Amino acid sequence: MNETDMLPGLDFEPVTSNQKPVTCLGMTFENDEARRTHFIAELHKKLKDPEFRKIEGFPIGSDEDILALSDPPYYTACPNPWIADFIAEWEAQKLEQPEGYHYHREPFAADVSEGKNDPIYNAHSYHTKVPHKAIMRYILHYTQPGDIVFDGFCGTGMTGVAAQMCGDRETILSLGYQVKQDGTILQEETDEDGKKVWRPFSKIGIRRAMLNDLSPAATFIAYNYNTPIDVVDFEKETKRILKEVEKECGWMYETLHNDGVNKGNVNFTVWSDVFVCSECAEEINFWKHGVDKNAGEVGDQFECPHCTASLSKKRLDRVWYTSYDSDLNEVVSFAKQIPVLINYSINGKRHEKEPDSLDLEIIGKINSKSLPYWHPTNRLPNGYNTAQPARSHGITHVHHFYTKRNLWVLSAVLRHLNHVNPRYKAWYTSTMSWVGRELRLHLGNYFDSGGGVITSLRGTLYVASLSVETNVLERLALRIRWQKFRQLNIEGATIQETCGASTCSIPDNTCDYIFLDPPFGSNLNYSELNSLLESWLRVLTNNKQEAIENKVQNKSLSEYRALMTDCFKKAYKILKPGRWMTVEFSNTKASVWNNIQTALNQAGFIVGNVSALDKKKGSFKACTTPTAVKQDLVISVYKPNGGFEERFLKEAQTEEGVWDFVRTHLKYLPVMKQQGALLQFVPERDPRILFDQMVSYYVRKGYPVPISSQEFQIGLAQRFIERDGMYFLPDQVAEYDRKKMTSGELKQMSMFVSDEASAIQWLRQLIKEKPQTFSDINPQFMQQLGGWNKNEAQLDLRELLNQNFLSYDGKGLVPEQIHAYLSTNWKDLRNLPKDDPTLVAKARDRWYIPDPNKAGDLEKLREKALLKEFEEYKEVKKKLKVFRLEAVRAGFKKAWQERDYAVIVAVAEMIPNNVLEEDPKLLMWYDQAVTRMGGE
Ligand SMILES: C[S@@+](CC[C@H](N)C(=O)[O-])C[C@H]1O[C@@H](n2cnc3c(N)ncnc32)[C@H](O)[C@@H]1O
Repeated sequence: MNETDMLPGLDFEPVTSNQKPVTCLGMTFENDEARRTHFIAELHKKLKDPEFRKIEGFPIGSDEDILALSDPPYYTACPNPWIADFIAEWEAQKLEQPEGYHYHREPFAADVSEGKNDPIYNAHSYHTKVPHKAIMRYILHYTQPGDIVFDGFCGTGMTGVAAQMCGDRETILSLGYQVKQDGTILQEETDEDGKKVWRPFSKIGIRRAMLNDLSPAATFIAYNYNTPIDVVDFEKETKRILKEVEKECGWMYETLHNDGVNKGNVNFTVWSDVFVCSECAEEINFWKHGVDKNAGEVGDQFECPHCTASLSKKRLDRVWYTSYDSDLNEVVSFAKQIPVLINYSINGKRHEKEPDSLDLEIIGKINSKSLPYWHPTNRLPNGYNTAQPARSHGITHVHHFYTKRNLWVLSAVLRHLNHVNPRYKAWYTSTMSWVGRELRLHLGNYFDSGGGVITSLRGTLYVASLSVETNVLERLALRIRWQKFRQLNIEGATIQETCGASTCSIPDNTCDYIFLDPPFGSNLNYSELNSLLESWLRVLTNNKQEAIENKVQNKSLSEYRALMTDCFKKAYKILKPGRWMTVEFSNTKASVWNNIQTALNQAGFIVGNVSALDKKKGSFKACTTPTAVKQDLVISVYKPNGGFEERFLKEAQTEEGVWDFVRTHLKYLPVMKQQGALLQFVPERDPRILFDQMVSYYVRKGYPVPISSQEFQIGLAQRFIERDGMYFLPDQVAEYDRKKMTSGELKQMSMFVSDEASAIQWLRQLIKEKPQTFSDINPQFMQQLGGWNKNEAQLDLRELLNQNFLSYDGKGLVPEQIHAYLSTNWKDLRNLPKDDPTLVAKARDRWYIPDPNKAGDLEKLREKALLKEFEEYKEVKKKLKVFRLEAVRAGFKKAWQERDYAVIVAVAEMIPNNVLEEDPKLLMWYDQAVTRMGGE
C-alpha cells in the first residue's frame, strides 16, 4: 500500500477547472488553487500559535487534518482568522443609505418548516434542518441586499443558502412574492378597505452570511452547501472514481440470479440478529422465526423452532461471538448477525433471494482480508446515543458501524477523492447516512410494498435487529445529481468557521440580523451523532461547549442554560443596536423554553414577540406561557438601540427610566396581528407583560425596580393609550383604530387555567367581557380546573375574587364597567342613570375589574398576604410540595430588592426543580441571585 493512501488530504494534487485569476480579500491570485495555497500556508502558521489553539471549542484534530478540511479564507475547520477582514470588505461594499435613513422593522414569524421538499434542502441530510426557503422570508423581512447575517448554530448552513438565494428571482417568486423590474420585492397584504394589495417590503440581492458551528461535520457541510463547483468537472470526476472503484470492488456486490447463470447487482442485504432460546439454548434466526410475515411486523410472541417454547424478543439474549479485530489488534465481542435476504437487480429489474453459498463465500472472502486503505478506527465517544449500539451489538469503534464490504468500498472511494478537488467530498459525506449499520428494514413498508423499505431512527445511532447493508457504489451514484445546485453559489458570499458560538471571532456591532436554531435541551446529541462523519473527516467536535442537556457530559438543564446564555451574550455583542435576532425553537418541554427565555434576558435581549406555529392551519398564534410546547416557536428579540441604553444609564434610578423603557419597547412591538380576517390580541402589549419586561430589564442591569406594579399600571394609563387591553404609542393607536374599523372583531387569546396567576388572568378576561355574580362564575370556573398544576395550592374562587376584583354591593352608583355592559346588552336598561333602582338591582353582586387606583389598594393587600405566606416557606425544613407560586414570586421580588440573595437561593432549593425550571420569573430571580452571591 502506498503511504499517502493512508493519510487522506496530504497529497492533494488538485484537478480544478478554475484556472482564471481570482481576487480574494483584496489580493489577486493567478487561479483559485494559488489562492488556496496562499491561505493554507497562512492558516498553517496560525495553527502553530498556541493561543489560537486555546480558543474554547477548538475542534480536535491535527494541524494537517484541519488544513486538509479547510478552504481558507472562506472556510476553516477551526476558528476563522479572516472574519474581521471579510466584514470590513462587506461593509465597504454596502450601498450608502439615503440621508435620514432609519432602520425600523416589526417582529416577524413565518413557518420554519416551509420548503422541506426542495431538492436543495435534500442535498445533504442533517439531524434537524430549517429549510432555506423558510429562512429567506426572515432575511428578506429584516435585511437589505449586502447586509450581514449571522447564524451561530449553522448546522448545514441553510442560513447561508437563504442569504444567497435572496438574490435569485425565481426562488423569490416561488415564495409567492412579486419582483419588480428594479428589484423591489412585493408581498400581498390586506389594505384598510379589506382589499388585497401588493406592497413593497424588500429588495432582491444577495446578503452576506457568517456561519458558525461547534461541529466540523456541520461547518464542512455548510461550506459545501454554500460554495460553487464546476458541475461538469464534478460529474466527470465522480463518475470516473465510481468506475475505478467498481473495477476494483464491483465483485463484492455481485450475486447469482435464480437462473443459476446470470449475475445480478446487490441493492441491499438484510442482516438479522440471532437469539438464544431461553428454554433449549439453541440459536434462533430472528428474521425466519421472529417476524410475522403476514402481519408485516415483529410478533409479540413467537415459537422456538427447536423446542416450540413460546418466546418474546424482549426477554431473549443475542448470540455473541469473539473475533480478532486487526484494526485494533485485539479480540472483540459482537452480537451475531447473519445475512438473510438479498435484494438485487438484473437488467434493471429487481429480485429477491435468500443468500446462497456463493454469497456467503464472497462475504467470507472479504471478512478474511485486512482492509487495504485508510479508514477511521477510533473509539466512539462515550455518550447517550453511542451506548445503545455498544450494548446491543458490541459496536464500540467507528469501523464497527459498517460491514467490512461497505467499509472497504468507502475507503477505496475516499482514497480517490483525496486526489481531486476537495470541494467534491460533500458528495461522499451526503451519502454517509445511507451506508452504515444503523439502517434497518422498514417492516411495514416492506410487506405492504409501499414506501421506502430502508430507514433508520433519525437522531439516534440505534442498530436494529434487522439491519440493512446498502450498496455503497449505488448510493454514491444516486447522489451525484444532488450537488448540481452548487453552480448557483457565489464564491465568498458566505464564510464558515468552526468553534463555539460564544467564542466566534466576529467583531462587535457588525451583524445586521441573526438567525439561530440552537439545540433544544436533550433533543439531540449532535457531537455524538456527528462523530461517525467527523471520524471520516478526521477532525472531531470538542464538546465542552456543546449546548445540550446530556448526562454523560454532566450537563443538566442549568448547564445548558449557562452555555446558551454565553452564546446569546456573544450574539448580543455582535448584533448592531436596534437590530433583531430570531430564535427558532421546536417541539420540546416548557422548562427548556423557559431556560431559553431566561438566557435571552440575561444576555440583554428584549423579547418583541413569541409566536407558535399552528401546523394544521399554517398560521401563527401569539403565546406567552407555553406550558407544553408542542409547536414550533419563533422568538423575536431585539437589542435596544444605543440611544436608549445611554439614556437609561442616567435615568435608571428614576421613574423616567421606566417610561423611557416602555416608550422605546412599544416602538418595537407589532401594532397588530391578524389571523385570517380577525385581529389578534398582541400579548406583548398587555400591561402585565410590559411590567414583566420592564422588571427583567432592570434586574439584568442590576438596578432596583423604582416603581411597584400598581404605580406602573396607573402610570401606564396616564402616559400611553389603551385599546382592548393593549397599550400603544399615539401614532400606533391611529393605525390600530383604522385597522380595527375594517377588521371589526378582536380575537382574544385562549387561556388555560393551571395556577393562581393564570386563574386571575382567566377571571379578568371573563369579567371584563361580562361582569357577573359569584353563582354565574363558579360553574364556569370549576370547568377550568382540570389542568391545575399539582404543585400549586388550590385557591377558593371566593378568595381569588376578593383578592383581585371588586363586587358591587348595591350601594352608591353602579360602577362604570357594569353600567356599560348592562346598558348595551339590555334594551330596558339603556340610558338609565347610574343610581336607577332597576339598574342597581340588576347590577348588585356582580364582580368587576377595579380601576387602576382601586386595583392598587387591592394589590397591596394581596401582596401582604402573599409575603406572609412566603415567610412560612422560609422556615420550612423539608421540600415544599404544594404551595402558592405567586407567594414565591412576590417573596423573591422582595428579597431581590432587599439584596437578600441567600433567601432566594434557600427557598429555590425547597421547591421542586421542575417548578423552578418552568417559571421564567422565578428562574430569573434565582439566576441573578446565584450570580450575585458568587460575585460577592
Ligand atoms: C438544530 S442544529 C442546527 C441545524 C441548522 N439550522 C440546519 O438547518 O442544518 C444545532 C447545531 O448547534 C450546534 N451546536 C451545539 N452547541 C453549540 C455551540 N455551543 N456553539 C455553536 N454550535 C453549537 C450543533 O453542532 C448543531 O449543528
